[in-house]
Amino acid sequence: MLRLTTALALALTVSAPAAFAQDAAAAIGARQAIMKYLGGNMRSMAGMAQGKLDFNADYVKAFGTAAATMASSYVLLFPDGSMEGGNNKAAPAIFSDRAGFEAEAAKLAAAATAMAAATTAEEMAATFGAVGGACSSCHKGYRLE
Ligand code: HEC
Repeated sequence: MLRLTTALALALTVSAPAAFAQDAAAAIGARQAIMKYLGGNMRSMAGMAQGKLDFNADYVKAFGTAAATMASSYVLLFPDGSMEGGNNKAAPAIFSDRAGFEAEAAKLAAAATAMAAATTAEEMAATFGAVGGACSSCHKGYRLE
């Protein structure tokens, strides 16, 4: 029993650091999937904010909440070596200015959380701009082209 416990403890010691390492290709796929999700839904959000689509509080709340969560997980998907490969437009500045990058993500999380609380089309219209602004602000500094 003691030997088993020791073996287990050793196995945990050895495998713990590996748990934090990410597969670069998987990270690129995951972070691009997040952006595609944001982009796809933002078109509907813009339609509602402009009054071209009927306001749907449940949808705005669900998307706003998800976007805020995704913003926090997005910044964790940039392991070393994940700049190479695929159609990858992430800028090197993400690695050289991690704090600035995380501040952009926090901006999106705050704006999306505010939008999620909208209960009327007017509140939606008033909060949508900051969400779109957070997208372009980060793209300007941290996305290539
Ligand atoms: C914290 C920074 C940041 C924020 C905030 C952000 N983006 Fe991005 N976005 C990026 C980066 C970096 C890329 C390039 C990623 C890559 O190629 O791996 C990107 C790429 C994209 C793409 C292209 C995805 C593809 O590969 O096809 C879309 C669409 C997109 N973003 C939409 C949005 C929308 C909509 C928002 C706001 C709701 C947003 N982004 C907020 C950093 C951000």
